[in-house]
Amino acid sequence: MPVLIAPSVLASDFGNLERDCKMINNSKADWFHIDIMDGVFVPNISFGMSVLEAIQTHAKKPLDVHLMIVDPDRYIEKFHQLGAEVLTVHYEACDHLHRSIQQIKSLGMKAGVALNPHTPVSHLKDIILDIDLVCLMSVNPGFGGQSFIENTYSKTKELKGLIENSKSTCLIEIDGGVTDQNAAKLISCGADILVAGSHVFKSENPTEKISTLKSLG
Ligand code: DX5
Ligand code: ZN
Repeated sequence: MPVLIAPSVLASDFGNLERDCKMINNSKADWFHIDIMDGVFVPNISFGMSVLEAIQTHAKKPLDVHLMIVDPDRYIEKFHQLGAEVLTVHYEACDHLHRSIQQIKSLGMKAGVALNPHTPVSHLKDIILDIDLVCLMSVNPGFGGQSFIENTYSKTKELKGLIENSKSTCLIEIDGGVTDQNAAKLISCGADILVAGSHVFKSENPTEKISTLKSLG
């Protein structure tokens, strides 16, 4: 499968949201990555429902929604109504992860689980067959523009091994500090989806950066 590229809208220019959504539509990107932060699970607040509604009106590609919020079960249905096709909750934010996953899937969305950098891949052993995607955080969640954590390479390989051994069809997404300098190695370790925020939007030519990332896989 060719690598999927999911530009993170968090790094876009919110004053020109329509322009930046259209850039993603017209690029080689596969998904829109949407970061929802509540200021409790992570020390930052990004944007909420009404901004997602605005993004949805312009986006012509699947919305990959990453919830960095406590007690995400409260909002699963709402994010479904707002057009999420992939909905990812954090392992660290769910007391009853299996139930959260079942709720997401019962609404027809793909269910993802994100792991903070300190959370071991082995914690997913008993749920790997139930999930569609694992998002490995390659920075501590909460902010765009941080440096990539090198331990992510070995974590990606370990996760790939777990997926293959269990015959799961789960995809591996890498989120945080992804650039054209680490993308090829991440793909060779097993990454299926690359999220890229600053690397794309803070560049002179975001469309070209997306094409370059896409060409690496
Ligand atoms: C971090 C978010 C990321 C972030 C990535 O908490 O989950 O999706 O937007 O941004 P960059 O690519 O700038 O690290
Ligand atoms: Zn994210």
